Amino acid sequence: HSQVEKNLRSPICCIMGHVDSGKTKLLDCVRGTNVQEGEAGGITQQIGATYFPADNIRDRTRELKSDAKLNVPGLLVIDTPGHESFANLRSRGSSLCDIAILVVDIMEGLKAQTIESLNLLKMRNTKFIVALNKVDRLYRWKRCQNAPIAKAMNKQSKDVKDEFNWRLSQVITQFKEQGINTELYHRNRDMQETFSIVPTSAISGEGIPDLLLLLVQWSQKTMVEKLTYRNTVQCTVLEVKVVEGHGTTIDVVLVNGVLHEGDQIVVCSIQGPIVTCIRALLTPHPMKELRVKGTYLHHKEVKAAQGIKITAQGLEHTIAGTELYVVGPNDDLQYIKDAAMED
Ligand code: GTP
Ligand code: MG
Ligand code: NA
Repeated sequence: HSQVEKNLRSPICCIMGHVDSGKTKLLDCVRGTNVQEGEAGGITQQIGATYFPADNIRDRTRELKSDAKLNVPGLLVIDTPGHESFANLRSRGSSLCDIAILVVDIMEGLKAQTIESLNLLKMRNTKFIVALNKVDRLYRWKRCQNAPIAKAMNKQSKDVKDEFNWRLSQVITQFKEQGINTELYHRNRDMQETFSIVPTSAISGEGIPDLLLLLVQWSQKTMVEKLTYRNTVQCTVLEVKVVEGHGTTIDVVLVNGVLHEGDQIVVCSIQGPIVTCIRALLTPHPMKELRVKGTYLHHKEVKAAQGIKITAQGLEHTIAGTELYVVGPNDDLQYIKDAAMED
């Protein structure tokens, strides 16, 4: 490994798409959790974050490519709601990410919030991979639990393959109508010009190894500069929440830098800047969702990229979506307070 490769932080990947296309379920499939069934009405209403260590990704992709080189420490995935009323959360999620997964239900094709999400990604020039999800719903699909997609496809009858190809070509046409070239990922010869489609099932796991490996390999290959770890703290507030025993907490995504217990921080509120000190730095266990109540790991310090729950005094009126600043020993507090209020 070169020095540069050693210094990469985890890519931040946002998962977007129309309501019920299977975003949360795809993450459940990778995590081995059941977050989706715990959601009210099966609808995501918050932004979440899950950290996937490289070792777990290696396990899930071994059958696809046993000698894959993973140069990043892991992958931080941000789950977003697809329901139309949460456009602000999609915007917040997409503004944070290095790369995205755009989930399309193979039985439904592109829908209103697929296109809305696509436009957010286009606007920020964010690269994405299309997960063409729910392939197990193709008539007479033969399950092939967690298999690489080529292997799963080989097991299917001609009728299943025909239906798949027909639906795939419709989705490709729909993307074309949005001015976007897409192609099945193993046929895609030019990932600069054409976005890749990975067929997946969040229920039986087919294609998940392909999706994970492509995400990691594409980001570490083409985004080295963006992913090179920087010491300067870059941190965004995702959600503001009251948690029993902790009072008002903030869920943040730390994009660069290190946060320490005791750090003096400044965040933005409607009543002006809040200056406080980090009481506790909490993360869920790896492969667990930050927004789901559970046991938290306590840390003295956390290095980017990571999703973190911060407890501190006086966070009640923090505005989600704004930046968090750390006051260093030589910093001018007034200057930072002004910067915090500019968000
Ligand atoms: P929002 O966050 O509310 O926008 O939805 P979502 O995109 O996260 O979709 P979710 O994970 O809530 O899944 C919606 C429904 O589709 C659930 O009933 C899932 O069980 C089902 N589902 C998701 N993925 C698949 C899949 O690959 N195959 C099948 N058969 N069902 C799926
Ligand atoms: Mg969801
Ligand atoms: Na849903």
